[in-house]
Amino acid sequence: MSAPSEQTVCRRLAGRTAVVTGAGSGIGLAAARRLASEGARVVCGDIDQERGRAAAEETGGLFVRTDVTDPEQVEALFRAAYDTCGSVDVAFNNAGISPPDDDSILETGLEAWRRVQEVNLTSVYLCCKAALPYMRRQGKGSIINTASFVARMGAATSQISYTASKGGVLALSRELGVQFAREGIRVNALCPGPVNTPLLQELFAKDPERAARRLVHIPAGRFAEAEEIAAAVAFLASDDSSFVNATDFLVDGGISGAYVTPL
Ligand SMILES: NC(=O)c1ccc[n+]([C@@H]2O[C@H](COP(=O)([O-])OP(=O)(O)OC[C@H]3O[C@@H](n4cnc5c(N)ncnc54)[C@H](O)[C@@H]3O)[C@@H](O)[C@H]2O)c1
Repeated sequence: MSAPSEQTVCRRLAGRTAVVTGAGSGIGLAAARRLASEGARVVCGDIDQERGRAAAEETGGLFVRTDVTDPEQVEALFRAAYDTCGSVDVAFNNAGISPPDDDSILETGLEAWRRVQEVNLTSVYLCCKAALPYMRRQGKGSIINTASFVARMGAATSQISYTASKGGVLALSRELGVQFAREGIRVNALCPGPVNTPLLQELFAKDPERAARRLVHIPAGRFAEAEEIAAAVAFLASDDSSFVNATDFLVDGGISGAYVTPL
């Protein structure tokens, strides 16, 4: 399975406003670019001022410096989107961390556990809580919360709080998708497989054996590109996915379906 060589241009999001958290890097940045290319006005939230601002400038959008663990800052992010653009149609709640001190349960301390839960799970609760009132008033909206394939599969290379936080994102998204379906609001969890980000490249360039240990489980034989995850975000954001709701939307190259992979 090879990566797509050229991107299809479509304008499924013309006139819509999309809030993207963690827009300064990786999946969030690729999604901000893709959503903008499909016609959305993008509102970039990130704790990193420099990168978040650069993402907004590149996509012709708005930057709001936001720590997604802070309820007031999250409310201000969605308020700024509504006040500036007049609607909140898409919320891509994506910011997350995967720090090295979140490891095996035998090693991971309570402070690291709590920090990861705050950034990866409490933030999604806060962003959904802030986005929903706008979407309910409009009678429509699409919320996409970034989980991970590790919410569906166990890894012997554990990051215990990360995995638990992503499991929480799945359950929260499913419940909200069911609760608000008749108000025209869809809520899906997005479950990417491992993505070819600078972080992952650096980690595995230093240690090819670690990369090989993971690649052997991927039927596609490679990691995802951030643009391939962004394509799924654009689909879930658009009306093309109008009957996709309350799912664990896997974009994992087949990892979670695999027993034996090709040599
Ligand atoms: N990269 C992967 O292989 C992979 C796989 C599955 C899921 N994910 C998930 O995808 C999401 C994005 O991951 P990525 O690889 O693009 O990461 P990344 O580190 O490249 O980008 C994350 C962004 O979030 C921002 N951020 C961090 N803490 C924040 C906070 N408190 N408030 C606001 N912004 C904050 C960072 O500044 C950064 O711009 C995360 O939720 C991650 O868990 C990643």
